[in-house]
Amino acid sequence: MGDWQTLKAACENCNRCRLASTRHHVVFGVGNPDADIMFVGEGPGEQEDLRGEPFVGPAGLLLDDMLSIIDLNRKTNCYIANIVKCRPPKNRDPEDDEQDCCIGFLQEQISLVRPKILVCLGRIAAQKLIDPYFRITREHGKWILRDNTWIGATYHPSALLRDVNKRPEAFDDLISIREKLREVNARV
Ligand code: URA
Repeated sequence: MGDWQTLKAACENCNRCRLASTRHHVVFGVGNPDADIMFVGEGPGEQEDLRGEPFVGPAGLLLDDMLSIIDLNRKTNCYIANIVKCRPPKNRDPEDDEQDCCIGFLQEQISLVRPKILVCLGRIAAQKLIDPYFRITREHGKWILRDNTWIGATYHPSALLRDVNKRPEAFDDLISIREKLREVNARV
């Protein structure tokens, strides 16, 4: 737990990029640090910035519903974080240099959780963690094995709020995530 406290304190005191000057809270992460599965979004929105917890606004409510379909819950059996820990003004995409300043915190979180499965929520996370040319519409729901961790992506819940036509595909991704969890846990 010592490592977590040091990491969280470093993150909360971070001034490496311009996002520090407009934040109310650093949004570090939430969940079970021993979880088998970790979800990564792009960055805090307004509600997250005000409350200091990832995915607590409208997209977060949908994410919680999605997780519950496959028996996951932020309080018990998964860990949730973002590529950048401070809110980009007006919810714009985080810039490359902001992501580069912040990615070390996420890499350390991943090293501490050591998830068996890592799911990118949306294009920004997938392009940072899987492939800079990742195309979410074409490549969501596919798995790659990297350093003993299965990594995949699904639509960002905000995209599912904007476009309900994407929801059936996102549902298929959820089922695939549940299958992958069963598979990795059957192997131990
Ligand atoms: N969108 C994200 O990518 N992350 C959050 O924490 C909230 C909304």
